[in-house]
Amino acid sequence: MSRKRILTGDRPTGKLHLGHYVGSLKNRVRLQDEYECFFIIADLHTLTTRPSAEDISAITENARQMVLDYLACGIDPSKSVIYLQSAVHEVYELNLIFEMLVTVPRLQRIPSLKDMAKSANLAEMPFGLLGYPVLQAADILLPKAHLVPVGKDNESHVELCREIARRFNNLYGEVFPIPDVLLGEVPTLVGTDGAAKMSKSLNNAILLSDDPKTVEKKVMGMYTDPNRIRADIPGKVEGNPVFIYHEIFNANKEEVEDLKERYRTGKVGDVEVKEKLSRALNTFLDPIREKRAEFESRRGFVDEVIYDGTMVMREEAKKTLGEAKKAMGLSGIWNKISRKVEEVRKKTHG
Ligand code: TRP
Repeated sequence: MSRKRILTGDRPTGKLHLGHYVGSLKNRVRLQDEYECFFIIADLHTLTTRPSAEDISAITENARQMVLDYLACGIDPSKSVIYLQSAVHEVYELNLIFEMLVTVPRLQRIPSLKDMAKSANLAEMPFGLLGYPVLQAADILLPKAHLVPVGKDNESHVELCREIARRFNNLYGEVFPIPDVLLGEVPTLVGTDGAAKMSKSLNNAILLSDDPKTVEKKVMGMYTDPNRIRADIPGKVEGNPVFIYHEIFNANKEEVEDLKERYRTGKVGDVEVKEKLSRALNTFLDPIREKRAEFESRRGFVDEVIYDGTMVMREEAKKTLGEAKKAMGLSGIWNKISRKVEEVRKKTHG
């Protein structure tokens, strides 16, 4: 029996951070052998909030940096497909079909879309942004994925995808699997400011590609227990971002327990806690940095990975879209006419 499939990915807005890692990347790397994996560079989704020519001109380099992060974390292009969304034209068509299977009020109830509009300073919801999760459903269902590893903010999008798949299957026959969501062990990682989830645009992120000095600087500036103005005042560990990171990234569990105990009883300074954290983070990031540098030095490699993946995805996409249209009874008319148009076009243009 063939393996089940995963589809997930990110918008190419730049380098990835620790939140991406614990939210989804770690799961992707772990499941690479068990599942057939498709990782999308969702450049069309980027357009929903960043449609300017300037934004668009940044996409290519952002996509390269993002794929470097994937590879550095252990995504293996010989096992998994990494592809560029906009180059798989079938997704536009499936998106349009899915648009008919969902209502506007249903989309308006999805909170993440309002959040995205707000953080992009958009006073009103663009049509395309409202359709964000519909396009995402088309991404997920094109390779007929069974599992979608994402962070918490995407959970409601996968739920909508399940509804669309069910609705399609009810109307036209069983074409799509109903995909499950898989949240990471830390579905939402708090940022270094302790105020919001980690996000590059909020300037509270530690990037997977940050150098050791930058990590140290960011950690030293981290928010901790604000009531603790001296080292001998008992501090709060719960909800304290410094300790949240210690728990997740410090492999030395004894050290973490010792620091927690001393923090609670006012027997350790913030500086020691932070120094140990930046050491732990750098230990965690070192092999990722090393791999990143190695891939970065292989000229043209990343572009080739994306190119190869996109070729594979296109074949899958063609197959699924064909099936979907056939189930709908659309293939008869559409295929006949497009074939004829194509023939005439070839004759006149050579
Ligand atoms: N919405 C994802 C993000 O927050 C990107 C994305 C686009 C995606 N299509 C997807 C994720 C399909 C999982 C599955 O960046």
